[in-house]
Amino acid sequence: MAEIGQNIQKAKSLLEQGELVAIPTETVYGLAGNALDAQAVSKIFETKNRPSFDPLIIHVGKIEQVSKYVKSLPEELKKLAEKYWPGPLTLLLPKKNIVPDLVTSGLDQVAIRIPNHPLTQGLLGQLDFPLAAPSANPFGYISPTKAKHVNDQLGDKLAYILDGGECQVGLESTIIGMEEGEIVIYRLGGMDVAEVESVVGPVKVLSHSSSNPKTPGMLKSHYAPRKPFVLGNLDTLVEEYEQKGEDYGVLSFEKSFPGLSADRQVVLSQKGDFKEAAQKLFGALRDLDEAKVSVILAELLPEESLGRAINDRLRRAAAQ
Ligand code: TXA
Ligand code: MG
Repeated sequence: MAEIGQNIQKAKSLLEQGELVAIPTETVYGLAGNALDAQAVSKIFETKNRPSFDPLIIHVGKIEQVSKYVKSLPEELKKLAEKYWPGPLTLLLPKKNIVPDLVTSGLDQVAIRIPNHPLTQGLLGQLDFPLAAPSANPFGYISPTKAKHVNDQLGDKLAYILDGGECQVGLESTIIGMEEGEIVIYRLGGMDVAEVESVVGPVKVLSHSSSNPKTPGMLKSHYAPRKPFVLGNLDTLVEEYEQKGEDYGVLSFEKSFPGLSADRQVVLSQKGDFKEAAQKLFGALRDLDEAKVSVILAELLPEESLGRAINDRLRRAAAQ
């Protein structure tokens, strides 16, 4: 198992030696390595068992550093960056040669963001390279929102996990780029569409069912628990599985099921708060995946605010 702690110096020295370290961010934990070191980057792909056609986000500490790695920052995207960085926002921008092709899987654009977490900010402030970091989960599984989640699955492949507590946002960053002058959201995430539109006006949101995803990682089946995961009307589903006599677990938005023991159900937010629901989502999926149930039943949230990004993850979890 990996060592878990809050030692920035230790994380720094491992990263400088080309090793990987799990880092906390406000969205999810990342599996970080020196983004300018192709060997460290290839270790990331190996450790996650991630196909090399699925590019990585690079993380920097300050907006002034972005120009070292990208050729330009269009005015509209700059406005977003200035308002929401550090935060759950990733921009797709034309990359400079200094960024290894491995990071972008050969694409001309690099995904870049400034994470909002004091420990990782402290770490980035002491490094003279950016950190490439995908979510610190095996490819296709649920993203980690606690150090323990990382340790459970990647602990034996990692020297150190920088423990920054529970992720406050709980959903991955919103990925935004431009196509023919139009702003496009490639992945719904912790930054709400309304927040984006309040700065730049209406944007295009690429749909989840896109069969030829522009963002390679937008594969349909993703964020998936190992157990069968069924989406629908919970009252109907519960009745159906009750009749079948199956040990089911329930993931609901606001409502609890009094007939069901506490270890078999998670309510994301009793008061119907989208932020709270987002923060709890991935942990809840993991808990139910580990509970003594054979199937997980879940419902979609209202298609508004962060409910859109949460529903995107739920639909992907249900996709076979
Ligand atoms: O919140 C987050 O974004 C977290 C934390 C650790 O920063 N990171 C994260 O990384 O979610 P990952 O690798 O799990 O997801 C990154 C997504 C993938 O879907 C990938 O395909 C897409 O970003 N992506 C990365 N670079 C890209 C590029 N150059 N062009 C298009 N899509 C890109
Ligand atoms: Mg991921």
